[in-house]
Amino acid sequence: MTATRQLFGRSAPQKIRCGPGGRPPTVTGMELRPEEAADHDAVHDVHRQAFGDDGEHVATLTRDLRGLLSPTSGLSLVAVENDKVVGHVLFTRSILDAPERLVDVLVLSPVGVLPAHQRSGVGTALITRGLELADEQGAPLVFLEGSPGYYPRFGFEPGEPLGFRKPSLRIPDAAFQVRRLSGYDQAMTGTLVYSEIFWRHDAVGLR
Ligand SMILES: CC(C)(COP(=O)(O)OP(=O)(O)OC[C@H]1O[C@@H](n2cnc3c(N)ncnc32)[C@H](O)[C@@H]1OP(=O)(O)O)[C@@H](O)C(=O)NCCC(=O)NCCS
Repeated sequence: MTATRQLFGRSAPQKIRCGPGGRPPTVTGMELRPEEAADHDAVHDVHRQAFGDDGEHVATLTRDLRGLLSPTSGLSLVAVENDKVVGHVLFTRSILDAPERLVDVLVLSPVGVLPAHQRSGVGTALITRGLELADEQGAPLVFLEGSPGYYPRFGFEPGEPLGFRKPSLRIPDAAFQVRRLSGYDQAMTGTLVYSEIFWRHDAVGLR
């Protein structure tokens, strides 16, 4: 069993079939499953294509962020259609510097879908299932930098009004978003401290 499979716990299915009768409703025949070592090249290629000029940067960021995954923290999911990886999402551990204690939280980054498969529900399926699994892991909060036009449909809210401080002034307020999960409590406020890997890759905010 690979580390990524272990992330999903003993009771979780190793493959989640989407489409009619599955969850969430999306492309018929698409499967969501934990990323495996054999998927790495295909996942990097998804990000190279999805992110265009920034693609190589995102692929190397993804490679290094994987090192943060453990059986109890973080997750990496792929979407597969006809035996081809068409999308990927990664959630990795960072820290919230809250008044009472340091809180382990997750950061959703990156998420990418092959251009030819975009706008058909793949991203929605990956993010929706990833949030369910993050909740099952006990993560109280998931942060991201992203479009305020896309992520609120998954329950993400602007972070600053909830008492969270963004890790860089180069992140637009509207892009700094958080999804509160069932482990959240109101004492969880403070500054999001990104894992060192985001800084090493200069992958924070806008330049
Ligand atoms: C963002 C992305 C992951 C979404 O995946 P997807 O499979 O195309 O999305 P879905 O089919 O599930 O959802 C489509 C919806 O998302 C919207 N959408 C997609 N990207 C968006 C963006 N950047 N801003 C606002 N809305 C966006 C579409 O307009 C569409 O909305 P509608 O349902 O109201 O028409 C994918 O488009 C992608 O890989 N983009 C390039 C890489 C990227 O920007 N990643 C996110 C930053 S980490």
